[in-house]
Amino acid sequence: MIDKYACPVRIARDQYEYLIVDEFLRTLIDVQSVNYVLETGMIDDLTDTSANSLPNRPSVDPDSLLSKILCANGVLTVCDGKYQLSDRFETALRYRDYLQTKIDFIQLVINDWTQRFASLITEKTEFISNSNLFGVFDYSKALKTTPEALAETGSWVKLTTGLTRYESAIPLDHLDFSKTQRLLDVGGNSGELARQICHRNSHLSATVFDLPGVCDYGRQYLQTLPGGEAVTFIAGDLRAAKLPQGYDTIFFKSVLHDWPDVVVENVLDQAVKIIKKCKGRVFIFERVSNGDLPLGNSCAMLPAISFHDYYRNWQWYVDFFQARGCRIEEMKIIRIDMEFILISIAPGV
Ligand SMILES: C[S@@+](CC[C@H](N)C(=O)[O-])C[C@H]1O[C@@H](n2cnc3c(N)ncnc32)[C@H](O)[C@@H]1O
Repeated sequence: MIDKYACPVRIARDQYEYLIVDEFLRTLIDVQSVNYVLETGMIDDLTDTSANSLPNRPSVDPDSLLSKILCANGVLTVCDGKYQLSDRFETALRYRDYLQTKIDFIQLVINDWTQRFASLITEKTEFISNSNLFGVFDYSKALKTTPEALAETGSWVKLTTGLTRYESAIPLDHLDFSKTQRLLDVGGNSGELARQICHRNSHLSATVFDLPGVCDYGRQYLQTLPGGEAVTFIAGDLRAAKLPQGYDTIFFKSVLHDWPDVVVENVLDQAVKIIKKCKGRVFIFERVSNGDLPLGNSCAMLPAISFHDYYRNWQWYVDFFQARGCRIEEMKIIRIDMEFILISIAPGV
């Protein structure tokens, strides 16, 4: 029997060095100890071996629990009787902002896993109403632009932006933007992905379509960043509004999983109509629920697997676009924290 689906090509994980940070976030003990050395500034004493530790700053005492934990999880090694950072952790520290974002995100969900595990598994409504995760990721606050609402929106936009700053490298390397002139990033958040695309492809401009509070944040955020000058924002609600018209490339990154099929079908149908007018493209870069979790569950996955039941199988997207007479030009898969599918869709078979 011929399989209905050709398997997506797998992108090798080791092309993306920043993913090394996950090695140091496997257990809660790892997460807390790495966070401690970052927060207290001890890390700076460890990176600058010539400096004496600053007064009032704890240093790594060789017999302490902390040093034993840091040795056990590979942050420290012992050389000539002295502690030093391991080579791999030094590499991870090149991505310190990504490491810190992942720690902040894990700490946000950890109480949900210790105190609400049963509802995460079986009582979705209770979990959505009472978890820290959904309390912080409250999109309804982003409908408003009062200073209080903006501060709350900023707290989770920082997290998504901190991940997307690095995740964007994958679509940038594997999608073809040469034919794109005008790109629409639906649910494009702070504009981080859009500005990186514009920075790498100076021939194009981009529009982010997102909720009003998120657009406000994004306009500020992009002010000084390369590529930001080519990005504009349109505030709207994808459930209610028609997508803005006149784009040849429509991008959906980590946004479709948030919505039930009926909403996603509506918005993707609009996208198909728009690209059919100009022989454009739809690009999708989304977590999917295909495949097993990697052996040895890790705290590094906690934020992403908290949304596990909302991810679709990648076959869902293939069926959707093929049923509308579209062609899957390219489809690749990569595991970041979960499997992500990267699809390029063109009109016509
Ligand atoms: C999980 S975030 C992903 C953001 C971004 N695409 C990225 O990958 O960094 C989902 C995005 O969808 C936006 N969003 C949520 N509800 C929306 C709505 N009703 N209309 C438009 N955008 C919405 C959020 O504000 C957020 O920016």
